[in-house]
Amino acid sequence: MSDPLAFSTTLQANGAEPLIAARALKKTYVVGDVDVHALRGVDLEVERAEFVAIVGPSGSGKSTLFNILGGLTPPTAGAIHIDGVDLTRLTDGERTRLRREKIGFVFQRYNLLPTLTAADNIALARTIAGNVNHDDPEFNEILDLLGISHRLHHKPRAMSGGEQQRVAIARAIVNHPAILLADEPTGNLDTENSTIVLDLLRDLNGRLGQTILMITHNPEAAAYAHRIVHMRDGRVAGGP
Ligand SMILES: Nc1ncnc2c1ncn2[C@@H]1O[C@H](COP(=O)(O)OP(=O)(O)OP(=O)(O)O)[C@@H](O)[C@H]1O
Ligand SMILES: [Mg+2]
Repeated sequence: MSDPLAFSTTLQANGAEPLIAARALKKTYVVGDVDVHALRGVDLEVERAEFVAIVGPSGSGKSTLFNILGGLTPPTAGAIHIDGVDLTRLTDGERTRLRREKIGFVFQRYNLLPTLTAADNIALARTIAGNVNHDDPEFNEILDLLGISHRLHHKPRAMSGGEQQRVAIARAIVNHPAILLADEPTGNLDTENSTIVLDLLRDLNGRLGQTILMITHNPEAAAYAHRIVHMRDGRVAGGP
């Protein structure tokens, strides 16, 4: 176990840098005898309070990039700074802690625990992060914004896809992460629910300055973002 003081210094933010700065990221998966080059050198910078959409064909490396930015997978090469902290220099434990404190994930398939109510799904995320801030007015405001305050005692199966995804978003941001990463958050939703979720992301970004990175296949969804990053064949199109 490393010195906790040194550890907190490692995690200290540096306001001068972009919130996300990825340089020359490469990721090669070795599958049997075959090397799959999922990322071939990606540079990406995201500023605080930006809402960025990542689009690109299936297999172009979007989810791989997310898993690396979110500290779930190490890159094969390259550097990644989150809030001034070099992810690749952290121990596994430090990276896990940074992920819990700074990153919220939303996936295409909500990933709520089916045996827990919506409220308990959200509470669990709080507990895992050691967040004891149970009376959190800003979060209560978020629940109102999400329009799910009255549905929190239900289990996921009693909720629509749109409601489940809104609960998943609430869970992702309950610990006030610096970055919300959403991988196809409307991929399983009908048009009406997609619009609700996208309006909500726009509100979270506009009203609370939540930094959002969203992968999508849908041009209408991408249009909600300030900036669209196109990926192709493991690279940012137009990039190096
Ligand atoms: N765990 C893994 N092991 C081996 N290969 C992988 C793994 N994850 C992804 N790949 C491969 O890496 C490449 C990029 O995959 P990735 O999932 O990042 O693409 P994507 O842009 O998210 O695609 P989609 O739009 O279909 O979700 C693909 O060729 C994929 O098959
Ligand atoms: Mg994907």
